[in-house]
Amino acid sequence: MTDPTRSEQHEHKARIWAVGGGKGGVGKSVVTTSMAIALARRGERCILVDADLGGANLHTFVGMNNPERTLTDLFRKDVAGLKDILLSTRFPNLWLISGARALLDMANPAYQQKMKVIRQIFSLHADHIFIDLGAGSSYNVLDFFLAAHEGVMVVVPTPTSVENAYHFLKAVYYRRLKKVVRKLGAEKLVDNLLAEKVQRGIRSPRDLVRDIQSNSREIGLALAEQMAELRPRLIINQVKRGEDLTLGTKISAACRDFFAIDVDMAGNIRTDERVLASLKARRPTLDMFPSSPFADDLERVVRTICPVTELTNGRDAYAEL
Ligand SMILES: Nc1ncnc2c1ncn2[C@@H]1O[C@H](COP(=O)(O)OP(=O)(O)OP(=O)(O)O)[C@@H](O)[C@H]1O
Ligand SMILES: [Mg+2]
Repeated sequence: MTDPTRSEQHEHKARIWAVGGGKGGVGKSVVTTSMAIALARRGERCILVDADLGGANLHTFVGMNNPERTLTDLFRKDVAGLKDILLSTRFPNLWLISGARALLDMANPAYQQKMKVIRQIFSLHADHIFIDLGAGSSYNVLDFFLAAHEGVMVVVPTPTSVENAYHFLKAVYYRRLKKVVRKLGAEKLVDNLLAEKVQRGIRSPRDLVRDIQSNSREIGLALAEQMAELRPRLIINQVKRGEDLTLGTKISAACRDFFAIDVDMAGNIRTDERVLASLKARRPTLDMFPSSPFADDLERVVRTICPVTELTNGRDAYAEL
């Protein structure tokens, strides 16, 4: 089958976004779908990938009832590749790879299977690919998050969401650290330091990297540099009160202190009852309520994380008003 998203002008690599954040029900799928729709409207060719295999529902967010092809067909080897299960949506420039009907054992695909999907995602032709992740910090979720060019965390202003986001980021950090340490051949050094972490006063990843640096400056610097490439974006969703507006800055500051990494605040999105109303109508909020608080906030987030200068074909929708 030919790749429906392929065109002469689209031979460049897609920018791959993964949206996670640890907690369930915070709005990951709503936000992922809306970001893709917002960019598709600007003329960018976008593919949504539903990687929440345990609870795939992205098709509902784009108003599709029964996706005719899904990742299940790929895992069952009924189709050769990811491009064979690409579905057009009723929105121009927007395609979907559905995770619906994934069998229970598929919710946890084998490592090789998962890496194959990740490799194939990278070979798809589009401007942007948005991967909607499930809740939690399983290796599946972490590997998709780490493989993407851009990791986006969605957090709501509740103590449990903030706590889950912290656990999520910690899991992401250590999974990447392990890979980097292995690549630098520094396993022994790090194991030795961690065995004495109490005596050495290592209480955070920042302390660990500092200690590695004082033992081996070269390894420490390389490690710090590669870990700094982990630069997730943060969206605070379902904002209700004024005090919620400071949460993003607080989380960013805490991450700088603890992990020595930058978490870039992408914006706040207000609680808006139209989100549920549009979901019930099986229509994206941006489509049904284009001038709602949710749509306004979402558009602002998209302009922050993907400024008009970084668009491939698109134009700034606002410039034409
Ligand atoms: N800004 C918002 N205002 C009002 N309701 C919202 C907002 N964002 C999300 N919701 C509501 O939160 C619910 C959960 O959203 P969504 O399914 O996107 O979460 P999720 O993080 O993807 O959940 P899961 O982890 O189960 O996949 C939906 O019913 C949606 O209507
Ligand atoms: Mg979801």
